[in-house]
This record gives sequence, C-alpha cells and structure tokens, in this order.
Amino acid sequence: MLNWDEFHEDETPVAEQPKAAPAPAPQAAPAAEVEPAVAESRGDYQVAEGDRLARARQSLENLDVAAGLEELEMGAARIEVDQKRMINARADLNQLVPFKYEWAWQKYLDGSANHWMPQEVNMNADIALWKSQDGLTEDERLIVMRSLGYFSTADSLVANNLVLAVYRLITNPECRQYLLRQAFEEAIHTHAYQYCVESLGMDEGEVFNMYREVPSVAAKSAWSLKHTQSLSRPDFHTGTPETDQELLRNLIAFYCVTEGIFFYCGFSQILSMGRRNKMTGVAEQFQYILRDESMHLNFGVDMINQIKIENPHLWTAEFQDEVTQMILEGTELEIAYARDSMPRGVLGMNAAIMEEYLHFICNRRLAQIGLKEQFPGAKNPFPWMSEIIDLRKEKNFFETRVTEYQVGGALSWD
Ligand SMILES: [Fe+2]
Ligand SMILES: [Fe+2]
Repeated sequence: MLNWDEFHEDETPVAEQPKAAPAPAPQAAPAAEVEPAVAESRGDYQVAEGDRLARARQSLENLDVAAGLEELEMGAARIEVDQKRMINARADLNQLVPFKYEWAWQKYLDGSANHWMPQEVNMNADIALWKSQDGLTEDERLIVMRSLGYFSTADSLVANNLVLAVYRLITNPECRQYLLRQAFEEAIHTHAYQYCVESLGMDEGEVFNMYREVPSVAAKSAWSLKHTQSLSRPDFHTGTPETDQELLRNLIAFYCVTEGIFFYCGFSQILSMGRRNKMTGVAEQFQYILRDESMHLNFGVDMINQIKIENPHLWTAEFQDEVTQMILEGTELEIAYARDSMPRGVLGMNAAIMEEYLHFICNRRLAQIGLKEQFPGAKNPFPWMSEIIDLRKEKNFFETRVTEYQVGGALSWD
C-alpha cells in the first residue's frame, strides 16, 4: 500500500541523480532529524525539492512554443459550423462549440440526467430466491445464467470498440462528448453484471468465460469482434470510400446489431422474470441498462444517418444489400441464442414467440437506417417492453423503488 510519504521517492536510480535529495526518513524517525531539500519557503509551507523545481523550470525554458502553436493552428480563422463534419473533418476537434449536431449534445445531457449506480439496487430478495432450492425452475436459472454470461462481457466489447476504434474516427466534438458519456455507461453496465454475479455468489469464471465457451453466446461475441478488428488497428484511417464504408459497417454492427438486436432476447427474458416478481433486483438493473441502451441505439442511428447525408456516395445499392445482410445475420444469431436459452416455454414466452419479436426488432433496425423491412407484418408480442422504459412513470416497473432519476429530456421507445 502506498502512503503519501512514499510519493517523495523517485523511480530514477539514486546514482543517476546529480544532486539527489536525501532518501526519505523512516516514518518513525523524529521530524527534527529530517532535513528536506527545499528550494524556497513560502511562509509556513515549503516548496518542492530544489532540483525538481529547477529541472521543471529548465524544461519550460526549452519548450518549443512555436511547434505547439502550429499544432493548434494559431492565427487560423475561427471555426464555422459549416466546417464541422461527422467523419474526416478538418475543423479543430478541441472546441466543443459552436454546435452543429444539437441532437448529439441533447443526448449527452439526457444520458447524464439518467445517471444511476448498481449498488443502489437492493439485491436481497434475489439472493434469497437464487439460493433457495425451489425458488426458480431449472429453465429460469438457465436464463439468468445465460443472460449474465452474455452481457457480462458484451458491454466490455462495446466499450472497447468505442474507445479503441470508433472515438478517434468520429471527427465531431459534440458526438465525442456523447461517446465519452456512453463509454462510462458501458462501464456501469459491466459493473452491474459483475455486481449481480457477486451478489448471487455465482461462479465468476463460468459466467465471464461463457462468451468463449457456450456456442450460442460465443457466436454473438465473435460476430461483434469481427467488426471491430480492422478499425482498432492503429494504422486504420478513414478518408477513402472503402475505409469510410468500413467505419459505417462497424457502427451498424455495434449500434444496430450488438446493442440493437443482441441485447433484446436477454432483456425481454429478464424483464419478464421481473414482471413475475422473480429476481426483481437483477431485473431492475436490466431495466436501467435497457433505458441507457435505448439511447445508445438512437444515438448510433442518428450518427449513421448523418454520415449517410454527408457522404451519399457511400450508401450504394451494393452496400445497402450488404448491410441488410449484416442485420439479418444478427437476427439469426439472436434467434439461435433464444432457442438455446429457452429449450421449453418459460415465463410466458418460448423460442417461437421470441423469433417473431426479433423479426419485429429486425424490421425496426432496418427501417431506422432507411432500409427495407425483411419481415413485413411481424408484430411485437411483448408490448410491455416499451412500457418498461417509459420514463414518465413515477415508479419502476417492479415497484421496488422510485426510479425517477430523470431530470430533463426524454427517451423515445422505438
Ligand atoms: Fe451497455
Ligand atoms: Fe450500450
């Protein structure tokens, strides 16, 4: 454990320091025996060790201000809104304003207004139910395990994609501001799953390795990972039609498929459980996460559509065909996951009903980015899913606590 005294220690070997400060005295030594190296004294406090301050001042004298100013384009004209673009912008990325995309800033404000933390949810009833012999059926236990297994790593995949691949390629400060908020929310989600796993006393190794060990879970994770590989290479740059399309593929794979389809079987299963008064703490965590995810999805859709508006040459018939296929692939993987996690009817659902729900969701995702629905007429068999994230409610769906964190803005359920 570090204590503050140890911060006097320099990692540089003592022999290399020309006039090394004396090693810190043992903590137990009387203060009178310590002779700190002090360059200056300001009244009743002492200022930095002499050599350090001298070196800092020397370093500043050598600072190449001209090079720094060049980087900041000193003397350039002030930023005009028209210079801002979603991708490949040349405008200064360090200046948040003037806003061009008000929707991005508004979503940042709305996301921040929805802040929550996993420890605020009472897990006592869940712990008792999970540990009792006959509290849940085997099929219900399977759903809880599969959901935590998939989600506990899925949000890390999303966060890593945001931070390591997408962030540097989106050249707009207000969108980046939302991406930073989203990245923190993904950390909270991973925290929430870890908190559930720990509270219920589950085998962490089993849950966190499910994305590598259970085929229906692994297939979804592998599909997402496939779409982040090229972008996360440091030498990947946008700026050609091919690389710009590769970025669009990534955004569609993560926002429309991973967050927009892969989360929906597990969310509806766990929320259905909560509606039946089972695992209400886990369900409440999922409810907050669903609310956040709904906004991530909507932000992603807005971003994709804005890139299309600014770069119509990317949205070719061939590319639209490819993207439609990607969304169908995601839907098929989620249906396979539904079959695997629901071998029989459970909680008033079964794999066939879930399949229609996922076809309905697939249609929505396609329509949101201007593509043709592939399952015309598919209906939503779970209308209560929309109700669950209705933020105008004063109490949460399971009536365990007030959930009105919202202080401004509103989400629209799609
Ligand atoms: Fe998330
Ligand atoms: Fe998300």
